[in-house]
Order: sequence, then C-alpha cells, then structure tokens
Amino acid sequence: MRDRAFVSEIAADTYRITTYHEPWRSTVNQYLILDEEPVLISTGLRERFEDTWAGLAQLLDPTKIRHVVVLHYEADECGALNEILLRAPNATPLASMRTVVSSLADAAVRSPRGVGDGEVLDLGTHGLRMLEAPYVHAWDGIVVVDERTRVAFTADLFIQPGRGEALVRDDRAALSAELYRTFYGVPPDSYLHRALDRIETAQPAVLAPGHGAALAGAFTAYYRAYRALAGEQRVTRSVVGAPSLRTSAG
Ligand SMILES: [Fe+2]
Ligand SMILES: [Fe+2]
Repeated sequence: MRDRAFVSEIAADTYRITTYHEPWRSTVNQYLILDEEPVLISTGLRERFEDTWAGLAQLLDPTKIRHVVVLHYEADECGALNEILLRAPNATPLASMRTVVSSLADAAVRSPRGVGDGEVLDLGTHGLRMLEAPYVHAWDGIVVVDERTRVAFTADLFIQPGRGEALVRDDRAALSAELYRTFYGVPPDSYLHRALDRIETAQPAVLAPGHGAALAGAFTAYYRAYRALAGEQRVTRSVVGAPSLRTSAG
C-alpha cells in the first residue's frame, strides 16, 4: 500500500506537502503558502494528484488556490497541473517565459502567465520574488524566494534522497551535491554560479527543495559543495578538450 501525502509546516504559513516516489527513492515536495491569495509551488506527479489534493485539503479548501507556480517543465513540478486547474477555478499557472512559450501555453488547460525576472508576486502579506535560473538542471528554471519568511524554493537544487524529515538542520551538503551530479550531471558553470549567487544574496533562512527535507541553518557548505560541481566541470572540460585540440592542431 502506498503512502498518503504528508503535511508539515516549515515556516510561517508555509507547508510542505510530500509524497514518496519509490522509483526515485526520494520524496516529491510541493509547497503551499497560506495568504490572502494562496499559492501552490509545484504540483507533484499526476499519478499522486489525489494524495496531494487530500494533503492540501488538510490546510485549506484547495479550490481556493489562486496561483500555481511551475518552477520548470517536468512531471514532478507540473504533472498534476491540469487536474488542479480543473478543480481550482481561480488558479492561474505562473512560470518563466521559457516554460510558458515552450510548453505550458499548449499543455495547460488554462492560460499561464509568464513571470518576469525579479518580479514580486504579492500574495497579501507574503511576496514571492521570481528569479530566473536557466540551465541549472532545467533550461527553463526559476527559483522563488518568499521575501517575508526568506524561504527559497529551489526545485532540484539542494535535493536529498530518502523519505526523510520535513525540516532538518544537519549538514547534508556533500550528499546533496553528489545526488545532484549523479541524477542531473554538472550544469554549465556560469549558470550554476549565477543561480547560487542569486540565492545566496537573498539570504534564505530555509532552502525548500523539490526532493528531500527542507533545510534550515547555515548554508555555506551547500553553496560550496555546489560551486565545486562547476569547478569539476572546468577540470573535465580541459581533460576532454585537450586531445581534440591536439588532433585539430595536428
Ligand atoms: Fe526538475
Ligand atoms: Fe525534481
């Protein structure tokens, strides 16, 4: 028998709704912020929609959701988007212009809105700043930072395996970076550095990834571990590039 969705508060008005996905040996996390205009960040997989909906229903009437933020176009970020839009009549899908133009404008049953880089979505008492983070895992990605609670919703950055707890303070930086590299490969270093710089500048109090626990505490080790991935790419490039340079020179 599969698990239901688990619901936990990770910051003021901010909840992690999670289902465990056995093929990935990790959780798939959605986040709900309760405010005048409730927002859901990521929908989870379509096959777990009913479980996610039941989890949301523990916190609010889910038909009242006003915004659904799609952090990039993949099944765990938006597989259940249409099921949610069909039941929540006032919910608008929000995503990067890249996501909207390439995928959501066609795939979503209700017209999505593309958000601008740096735009702040006013929810009432919370404000969500949209930060483009392209080519970090996904080419169309954004990271979202709640300016009130300083929770950063980072999708596939800072992921961890396992069922895990909802919110942890222990250092999982090396494990997280290794898992990221194993699953997604090393992103282009300039894009990765830019995304990490933008997240670090926002001084998050909580990192809320799409898989694993939300993270609290100091994040220096996480930034360092992920920046090392970019350094690793430079080394790999020089090793791989050397023979072809010699070949073309010869
Ligand atoms: Fe993803
Ligand atoms: Fe993901």
